[in-house]
Amino acid sequence: MIKIILGLALLIFFVGCEKKHTSNLDGKKLLEEKCSACHNLDLPPKTFTDEKAPPMMAVAFHIKDFIKASSESDKIPKAIDFVKDYVVNPNASKSFCDKKSLESYGVMPSQKGKVTQDELEAIAEYMFEHFTLKNLDEAQAIENRLRKMPTGERVALKYNCLSCHKKDKDVVGPSFAKIAKRYVKNTVQIRKSIENGSAKRWKEYRSVMMPSFKNKISNKDLDVLVQWISQTKNEQSK
Ligand code: HEC
Ligand code: HEC
Repeated sequence: MIKIILGLALLIFFVGCEKKHTSNLDGKKLLEEKCSACHNLDLPPKTFTDEKAPPMMAVAFHIKDFIKASSESDKIPKAIDFVKDYVVNPNASKSFCDKKSLESYGVMPSQKGKVTQDELEAIAEYMFEHFTLKNLDEAQAIENRLRKMPTGERVALKYNCLSCHKKDKDVVGPSFAKIAKRYVKNTVQIRKSIENGSAKRWKEYRSVMMPSFKNKISNKDLDVLVQWISQTKNEQSK
């Protein structure tokens, strides 16, 4: 019995390993160190007026589009090989960049001596894992959600207030609507409690206390939060 369990554990271990990177270097960090001087790494890229190179998302997308491979599963290994070669031996005929962009950027200067093949392997693996349509969609969905949020709610999200408070539902702490109702004319207390933390002011929450946010939160964000909380209404009872 023990043997079977051990065998299973080993099997899971190896299956788990197979999916893992061949490289144990930190591709994300290396990409930032070695490539961000010229390539914008944001997903989606923010537009630059003084762009020195195509954004890395565009590079990853069109290498994947244009690389020749016998099968879908062969694409990523081929794309990784392309990056490993291109970065040290770049030239116009190899580049997948369209002619016009290539003229305006100029061919990439070889990075020979500045990055090793092992490092490039890790960088390229990370590139094709991170810059995907799925991640782009997710990033855009989050951006859209944030854009539609009132500023106050965005700030509350930033400081993790929303993990304990909801607008109109009691969770770990009282709802912001209830807090607003209690302190209609006393925003000073709201401010004090955010700065110093709070305990035993709400009888339903005797056993839980709120941590202090002193020195963790900028004055400007604190103003925004106090304003937003004090104006929160219970949407269900409107
Ligand atoms: C000194 C600026 C500079 C640095 C640093 C730089 N690049 Fe580039 N790169 C460019 C420019 C400019 C182009 C566009 C012209 C071209 O295709 O050669 C480019 C193009 C590329 C391409 C080919 C894109 C295509 O569509 O065929 C790849 C791949 C690439 N870079 C990867 C990297 C990686 C990975 C790093 C970091 C190890 C890096 N670059 C660092 C300037 C730079
Ligand atoms: C770990 C959970 C937790 C987090 C995180 C948290 N709170 Fe609280 N909060 C509570 C609890 C619990 C109470 C009720 C404490 C009590 O009984 O005094 C509370 C109470 C409050 C009160 C009312 C205090 C009073 O004077 O009556 C305000 C205002 C408040 N929180 C705002 C915030 C803001 C803004 C943030 C983010 C910056 C935040 N909270 C983050 C748990 C939390």
